[in-house]
Amino acid sequence: MVRLDRRGFLKLSGAAAVAALAGGGTAVAEAMSLELTRVSLSLGAGKRAVQISDTHFSTSVFSVDEAVELIKAEKPAYVFHTGDVVSFRRDVERAREMLRAVAEFAEVYVVPGNHDHWRGLGAEKLQEALGEEVKVLGNTSVYLDGFWLAGVEDPFTGHARLDRALREAAEPVLLLAHSPQIIGEAAGRVNAVLAGHTHGGQVRLPLLGALWLPLPKEYWRYDYGKFVVGRTEMFVTRGTGTGWLPVRLNCPPEVVSLRI
Ligand SMILES: [Fe+2]
Repeated sequence: MVRLDRRGFLKLSGAAAVAALAGGGTAVAEAMSLELTRVSLSLGAGKRAVQISDTHFSTSVFSVDEAVELIKAEKPAYVFHTGDVVSFRRDVERAREMLRAVAEFAEVYVVPGNHDHWRGLGAEKLQEALGEEVKVLGNTSVYLDGFWLAGVEDPFTGHARLDRALREAAEPVLLLAHSPQIIGEAAGRVNAVLAGHTHGGQVRLPLLGALWLPLPKEYWRYDYGKFVVGRTEMFVTRGTGTGWLPVRLNCPPEVVSLRI
């Protein structure tokens, strides 16, 4: 057994603190480094759209201006926000500013996430908070140009009502849901799903992948990326912001450019 004298202990503690700070700095820098990810879905609508998710704001360090420019450069017809718009009520003003900026060049559709619900911002209240420039979908659907867009309230907190959301819709249907666990009941019933919530784990280790996912165990496989379940495609984004702590590792934040 190695014993350290006081000087040795202080040296070791200092080295550990420097390593943690350096690692922490790297992880914060990664959380600031937005990437553009391109994904194709087989909806057949012939449209360009962008997905953002999990903006959170007060627990995030991405640049809103950079995100808006990235989105705008894709010339999307639609921008879909798949929830966790805010972490706290105080983030509403920044969310409204960002989404209003995006609504100047695209139609914006939003579904609430678990954090929104935890702050009392289900679809109705989130709609009031964000204003009429954007459309919040809470267990409902709208017909867009060549496809139906459905959106459920947050599945993670048990507010999703898929039957109600799909009552009016006919194929092809694109479903927005915060948590990918919606695939359990949406597979085979919609053409495609866009989800967020996982943040890709936020911290991913080589070989091990995500260290922790806020999902029931049977859905852990849906941590990030494109999946095909039966005839239903699903893309799960790493998200644009960060929750709890503004750090990421091997899991940069993203804006998703979609061909639908
Ligand atoms: Fe989130």
